[in-house]
Amino acid sequence: MAEKNSFEAPRGMRDFYPADMAWRNKVFDAFRAAGEAAGFQPYDACVVESYELLARKAGEEVGEQIYHFQDKSERHLALRAEMTPTLARMVAKRQKELSFPIKWTTIAQCFRYERMTKGRKREHYQWNLDILGSDSVLAEVEVIGAAIDALKRMGLETGDFKVRVSSRKYLSQLLEKSGIAPEFHPQVFLALDKRGKMPDGEIAAMLRDGGLSQADVDATFAIMDVKSYEDSPELKELFALAEVAGFADSLVFDISVIRGLSYYTGIVFECFDAKGEFRAIFGGGRYDNLLTAIGGDKIPAVGLGFGDVVITEILKEKFGEAPAAQKDVTIVGFMTDAERDAALKVARSLRSGGGRVDLMLSAQKPKKFFARSGQGGYAFAVFIGPDDVAAGCAKMKNLATREETPICLTKN
Ligand code: HAM
Repeated sequence: MAEKNSFEAPRGMRDFYPADMAWRNKVFDAFRAAGEAAGFQPYDACVVESYELLARKAGEEVGEQIYHFQDKSERHLALRAEMTPTLARMVAKRQKELSFPIKWTTIAQCFRYERMTKGRKREHYQWNLDILGSDSVLAEVEVIGAAIDALKRMGLETGDFKVRVSSRKYLSQLLEKSGIAPEFHPQVFLALDKRGKMPDGEIAAMLRDGGLSQADVDATFAIMDVKSYEDSPELKELFALAEVAGFADSLVFDISVIRGLSYYTGIVFECFDAKGEFRAIFGGGRYDNLLTAIGGDKIPAVGLGFGDVVITEILKEKFGEAPAAQKDVTIVGFMTDAERDAALKVARSLRSGGGRVDLMLSAQKPKKFFARSGQGGYAFAVFIGPDDVAAGCAKMKNLATREETPICLTKN
């Protein structure tokens, strides 16, 4: 006998069965509602990009994780690992026409060849919020505030998460004060971002290989103990504005937040669950030079990416149950084929009135119909038998209260 094929989704890629979709919709609905509430305009783009646009500076983890291939015309293409280069490309193309500042949002499917750990897959959806054309710290406040709003819409409370913030500008200032020249800063950022993921000894070796003296390395690690942001005007402003915006209690200063992407230039932030069990819920920051790097004019920018994987794990842990399936669905069934058309007409009429109807596809006994109507979150049931057709009237049963209301069967 021939062996049966048994296909699995490729490792790290995701199937969404209806129960998974219920979670995904809950998360996406909150993303969309929070984006709209804060005045962000939706946009979208192609998943496949030219590799050249996505190729990264040495040292950035995401650079090694890009899925790339050649098409039949030998173009070097890639699946996007994040949305930011694509956004920069789109904005650069219309930079003369757009009226800045712009606030754009999207939910982008992204691919990264990740080492699979809790909260990390090779495919994820990432909600992006970006503001381009403003150098005000109010832009940071708006994106962080909208992300916190999304968390609240999903049912989380202030105590469930913390947004850890720092500033690369401030870190640069501290490094320079310790005698570490600015040309070393980009590699210091990328090395320090690896703290917690690799031993400090290895990070120190990386820094020495990059040309830092042992004294510089010691000074760099000492900076990681800084607890005050009093010398950073932008961080002071951020905390003051967050107070006015009503979410200061969700923010904490943490000099060790650096971010693994080299395009950030100023304030950077990452949100974690309060217990610290999961990877980052969202992360972002200011990136004022990205457009020039891809051929556009310089423009200040700030944004964040908020993945669906970690937050869904957190929601499952907190709420357990899958979110309720579609509400207010009426199940319509019929006893013999002679009542089939009458059932189809009821479905048509209820649907044209805006109702949601799940029409059964074959005749069935009442017992079987009512057993099914008890599962799957139905609110109402209409079952049509020969007597109902003869009387020209059937009953709509409210499955919660058992109340029945007559419903007319139209002749045509
Ligand atoms: P990122 O920190 O690389 O930033 O990703 C943002 C978020 O996407 C993470 O905090 C996490 O929720 C989710 N994420 C990333 N990789 C994975 C993965 N392999 N599996 C599951 N979730 C993942 C960026 O991508 C920036 N482009 C964000 C940004 C937008 N900065 C400015 N604008």
